[in-house]
Amino acid sequence: MEAQNYLKRRLDLATRYSNTLFVISSGTESMRSHSVAYRYKTPSDFLYLTGLNLSHSYLIIAGKDHYILSDAFARTSSVWGEEAMIAANEQHLLGDLKCESLQKLDEILHDKISQFDRLAIPMGRDAHLDQKALSLVSFKRRDRRRLSAVPLALSDSRTLVGSLRLHKDTSEIAHMREASLRSSRVHAEIMKSQLIGKSEIQIANLIESLFLSEDMQWTSYESIVGSGERAVMLHARATQKKISDGELILIDAGAEWNSYCADITRTIPAGKKFSAEQRALYDIVLKAQKAILAAVKTGTTIQALHELGLEELREGLLGLGYDKNELALDLSQLMPHSTSHWIGMDVHDPSAYYDDNGQERRLEEGMCFTVEPGLYFREGFKELAEFEYLGVRIEDDVCVTSTGCEVLTSAPKETDEIEALRAKA
Ligand code: GLY
Ligand code: MN
Ligand code: MN
Repeated sequence: MEAQNYLKRRLDLATRYSNTLFVISSGTESMRSHSVAYRYKTPSDFLYLTGLNLSHSYLIIAGKDHYILSDAFARTSSVWGEEAMIAANEQHLLGDLKCESLQKLDEILHDKISQFDRLAIPMGRDAHLDQKALSLVSFKRRDRRRLSAVPLALSDSRTLVGSLRLHKDTSEIAHMREASLRSSRVHAEIMKSQLIGKSEIQIANLIESLFLSEDMQWTSYESIVGSGERAVMLHARATQKKISDGELILIDAGAEWNSYCADITRTIPAGKKFSAEQRALYDIVLKAQKAILAAVKTGTTIQALHELGLEELREGLLGLGYDKNELALDLSQLMPHSTSHWIGMDVHDPSAYYDDNGQERRLEEGMCFTVEPGLYFREGFKELAEFEYLGVRIEDDVCVTSTGCEVLTSAPKETDEIEALRAKA
């Protein structure tokens, strides 16, 4: 992407929220141990609006005037590294951005704020900026030059930038496709691997090494590996528990390509085949997932898709003999999460699920989200005791098109396909 593409995004934001002054921080490194920091990751909104990987800096969008405040400009070389500098291959992205030092933050804010009714920052992410924002909006500090009688409002910039990020353009969709393709290949590779006797941590490490071999720089989130009884935990953190024959393994893992995320869950047998109970449960979840995928189209809502998924799961469980009255009580425990969330530069993209009128957001072309029904039989369900401690989730990522959706992720999910791959382990 070129400087003008980022400029267009900033102008779109400034036009959509013409009364709002935006200040978006790029954050700082967190310390991992004495003198060693965690790897720095640029916050998605900052990256979306600038393309720059630059810690310790601020982006200010004041209508048509856009500033980058950073002390990196004062340096021409870095002996230790370039974490605080603009990497040479990113210089061209500065374009029309006005480069200033960090010391100018107060001056620019005080100068600009009188022209706006609202100040938007990523609230709660940067204590220094939170404090500045509070003092700017406080009654005591109200500036007499303000052109408006409306009190200065404070908003979370993530919601506002999120409204732009909700619709992906063709280059963003291409990155999502690539992240999905590469992450899907990793799942298929895991399905061909010998897993019995390995620990969950070893499997998570194997997955992440495969992401690295796919040339992916970041996982989208900490890889989830839950085996046996631990598959009923929605976000099981991999442990040293060893995988035994006969268990199911729930693997929820994906990685980023050019800052766009994949989020994939597959549930596979540790050995070569699903047991009869595992297959029965799996088939119900797969049928529900396919029904949701087939129903994705412009005009429908995430909530309607969720309800459809629940209805499919309900029918499947009744077909297995689950008591109707018990199921009415139990379903929210058996499937305790939403079937979908927005996805993009963040695995849970921060866009709102309701529109500006408080109505459920209707799907439009270019919106991307996950479809991830599951069933989790923890202890204590009176019905279908033979399913106790079985957990199944199947998750794919989709992009809404004019005719329905493109399923971006392609890891095998038919039981026959999975068993054929497990047979190669
Ligand atoms: N991987 C986290 C989720 O599916 O939401
Ligand atoms: Mn997900
Ligand atoms: Mn997931």
